[in-house]
Amino acid sequence: EEIKIFSPATVANVACGFDVLGFCLDSVGDEMVIRKTPKKGIFITHIEGFNLPYEAEKNVAGVSALAMYNAIDVDFGFEIEIYKCIKPGSGIGSSAASAVGSVFCMNEILGRPFNKTQLTEFAIKGEALASKCEHADNLAPALFGGFTLVKSVAPLNILKIPSPDDLFASIIHPQIEIKTADARAVLPKEVSLTDAITQWSNLGSLVHGLHTSNYDVIKDSLHDVIVEPHRSNLIPHYQSVKSEVLMAGALGACISGSGPSIFALSKSIETAKSVADAMNKVYTATEYNFDIHISKI
Ligand code: HSE
Repeated sequence: EEIKIFSPATVANVACGFDVLGFCLDSVGDEMVIRKTPKKGIFITHIEGFNLPYEAEKNVAGVSALAMYNAIDVDFGFEIEIYKCIKPGSGIGSSAASAVGSVFCMNEILGRPFNKTQLTEFAIKGEALASKCEHADNLAPALFGGFTLVKSVAPLNILKIPSPDDLFASIIHPQIEIKTADARAVLPKEVSLTDAITQWSNLGSLVHGLHTSNYDVIKDSLHDVIVEPHRSNLIPHYQSVKSEVLMAGALGACISGSGPSIFALSKSIETAKSVADAMNKVYTATEYNFDIHISKI
């Protein structure tokens, strides 16, 4: 018995929602195949795309699989094949896709004993191996789809947030690697009350705009005064990309997760394409390789 899945990339933070907000991409993701094996345990038998460890204890997909495996009592094991398309360190939830993929498939094979929140709990263990902290803002949208808000991690409480029908994301991935742990190390431990007020006003209004399909409110809310100022200088040509995509009609743009990918949200596929063209134009003039995707949210 085996299951093959597409495990999606995700955009975390979404400007004002550091560590809590995220959305799922339909155009980029990994493939994984999981099957039952008579031997007890978790075995990673094949990895393609990127050089990642085969030892389950050292592999994100393996660690989350082991977390679930230790919570069940079965007389068989699981083999995992990983066909990685999302580059680790790209800022679109590469580790989350791996962490979620293994537990999602195992749950299907087992007849769904766990709900999505419980699957996220197991996947957090894998995510923590990569980012050195337990956050679920990429895991939740990968499992639930669309937009999600992680209300709290302990206990885990995930809220699914609706979004307008005509909302699209354009993402540019410059081919440099930024490790989440490094991008977290540059952040201040404390923030000013003035910045906190601005940030929670934007997060509240963004969630309202998503609920009411109000594109003006969404546009007015896609700002980050806390994290972006510290991380944006890790990303080459960040300011140029941001100003060009806004001129091309994007509702807003910011760092995707911990970078280096940059996302922009747009109303309509046509605008999302113009925004992708603007991203392409900025980076074509640089020495960096890059790729660009458009996703419906
Ligand atoms: N919220 C996390 C961060 C996402 O920005 O550090 C990165 O995986």
